[in-house]
Amino acid sequence: MKKLVIANWKSHKTLPEVKHWIDEFEDKLDTSLVKDAVDIVIAPSDLYIAEVADELDTVVALGAQDVSPYPTGKYTGATAASQLASMGVKYAIVGHSERRQYFGEDYVQVANKVEQCIDAGITPVVCVDDEYVSAQAAAIRPELHSNCVIAYEALSAIGTGNTMNPAHVADVRDTIKEVFGDVPVLYGGSVTSSNVTEYAKINDGWLIGGASLTLENFWALLTAVANVSDDAGKNGSFA
Ligand code: PGA
Repeated sequence: MKKLVIANWKSHKTLPEVKHWIDEFEDKLDTSLVKDAVDIVIAPSDLYIAEVADELDTVVALGAQDVSPYPTGKYTGATAASQLASMGVKYAIVGHSERRQYFGEDYVQVANKVEQCIDAGITPVVCVDDEYVSAQAAAIRPELHSNCVIAYEALSAIGTGNTMNPAHVADVRDTIKEVFGDVPVLYGGSVTSSNVTEYAKINDGWLIGGASLTLENFWALLTAVANVSDDAGKNGSFA
């Protein structure tokens, strides 16, 4: 199985910065095999999904950083899963710790977002920290578990430079697979080109924040992943 790398740009970048990143990325892809070795998902601000889709939809999958827990309708300011799907979005991050911390997102809302994503044909990427794997799983209908990708992101590791010990990540991955079933498990939290390969044998991919913002750093990370993906391109694809 190819590794899945999701770039979460958070609330970074203006339109000119997005265009610049895309231009640099396209130049690299022309001369590289990375696109055959790794499944890449770019999750920009919703505002720029169309821009990324127009330029890169043949080489990356589109991601959203969040989604409404409601369908289309009278929900001012919310972006519904079916709206994202109509833009070509294939993955949506739900329950990111920043959403939980700053926007009060709870297990039930995350579970409703999962429902909306699956109804719209979007794969939800459900973020969990160590201690609430089971509570989050319990809030999501069991029959939907197999449609999820789970991202293990410890709060203490996000944006801090303090990655989690790989042995601990392996333990949490096992717990996730016990409660969600044999779903793809990503690791996220201060992953860079220097440490990404420490998790290559443990997880199915990564959720990348800070190290996805400049093309230089992101490309170094993709190259490191491509170099350890011996099965790349042989056993199927996430995208
Ligand atoms: P980070 O963010 O890579 O900057 O730690 C990861 C995330 O929040 O998904």
